[in-house]
Amino acid sequence: MVKEKTHYVCSDCGGSSPKWLGKCPSCGAWNTLIESLPESTTPAKNRFASLAKTAEIATLGEIDAVDMARTPTGHEELDRVLGGGMVEGGVVLIGGDPGIGKSTLLLQALDSLQRSGQNTLYVTGEESGAQVALRSRRLGLNNSQVKVLAEIQLERILATLDATQPDIAVIDSIQTVYSDQLTSAPGSVAQVRECAAHLTRYAKASGRSDGAARGRATCIVLVGHVTKDGALAGPRVLEHMVDTVLYFEGDTHSSFRLVRAIKNRFGAVNEIGVFAMTEKGLKGVSNPSAIFLSQHAEPVPGSCVMVTLEGTRPMLVEIQALVDSSGPSPRRLSVGLDKDRLAMLLAVLHRHAGVACMDQDVFVNAVGGVRISEPAADLAVLLAITSSLRGKPLPKGFIAFGEIGLAGEVRPAPRGQERLREAAKLGFSVAVVPKANAPKKPIEGLTIHAVERVEQALEVVRSLA
Ligand code: TYD
Ligand code: MG
Repeated sequence: MVKEKTHYVCSDCGGSSPKWLGKCPSCGAWNTLIESLPESTTPAKNRFASLAKTAEIATLGEIDAVDMARTPTGHEELDRVLGGGMVEGGVVLIGGDPGIGKSTLLLQALDSLQRSGQNTLYVTGEESGAQVALRSRRLGLNNSQVKVLAEIQLERILATLDATQPDIAVIDSIQTVYSDQLTSAPGSVAQVRECAAHLTRYAKASGRSDGAARGRATCIVLVGHVTKDGALAGPRVLEHMVDTVLYFEGDTHSSFRLVRAIKNRFGAVNEIGVFAMTEKGLKGVSNPSAIFLSQHAEPVPGSCVMVTLEGTRPMLVEIQALVDSSGPSPRRLSVGLDKDRLAMLLAVLHRHAGVACMDQDVFVNAVGGVRISEPAADLAVLLAITSSLRGKPLPKGFIAFGEIGLAGEVRPAPRGQERLREAAKLGFSVAVVPKANAPKKPIEGLTIHAVERVEQALEVVRSLA
């Protein structure tokens, strides 16, 4: 194949240069030039080129708003994050740490889809066909009809997709795929971006009947690796290109896995699916509210349970804190919670409640490898810290939630009633919540203390002990 001439484009300003340079000649930024194909030749003389000719303008009113056809994957928790199922012509990016279960989940999903009559294709670039087969046996998927292609060259993958026209194709992983057109190594930013762009374009164009009549569009699922700092390897542009971005979360040492929708053009974001890794692969957990609690027989200092609301479901999560006297430079460490927020909370605690941790190491952790991004965790973090500092446990059956402001105020969390009802359902009996979240009607079995300020929350806790 004749190689297209590539050039180098600055990822900051978009300026280009015919050869690689350390410094962008247009904007002067360092290390931003990335190899790319000239735009005009990117669709590579195939049928995508005809897209331009078919483009026509219509008013919004004229366009039929057809609801996307969704195919349920047969895994309720996965469908939940996808917004109901795989969408025809949609592109899903699924990221996560190595070994967290991406390949396992997708193989299981493909198998159920194939059994429900879909034409599926699993493109594996990381494992051999035999390894995939071995995994499928382990998962108990006997006589699976899922088609497997062990291939990493983009052009051949596209040709196979075109020939077999699957309804759903999984590319595991996008980092292993490379295009002949670029000289960069597989997994490099340029390759990942280019390959993902081609596959996305394929998915979008696959349903169009350009000349030869075509049936359904292909839904493509890209598996992406996550770098050390938690972002999907490759450029962020990958996230912009695709329709849905799902992240696998969880601790590889615990059996629970969360799949979170970060972006979804076809459904709600921040929805989560909960799975448990078992001997036979991933199993959906339909009632996850109590799995992120460690079962202490008696209350222990430094532990506070909060109710977090992820997507549509409230979940109880235990926040743990350990405050310990430190050397000259005290450490602040958080796992599953925002580190900057921890520093802010410590400052609020000192300034407004007179509790100082300046000479202490402070560690906080959300149990079970779950990541909590909502500020409603603030109050629970703060109470866990003070509990650890004083060495006094919070009362039995205690929960708290609420955002804390820099002025020391406790702000309401969205949908507080639902959170409180979930806690009551699981047998919690005492709650400290923001004033605006206090329910008008009492909730059976739950004593609610509504607070407006941090000092007040600490006072309530002291009076309960
Ligand atoms: P895998 O899907 O290969 O992860 P990824 O594709 O995200 O890198 O998951 C592999 C891990 O899951 C591995 O540590 C073994 C474990 N596992 C099970 O516990 N049960 C199973 O049935 C399977 C297939 C894997
Ligand atoms: Mg894998």
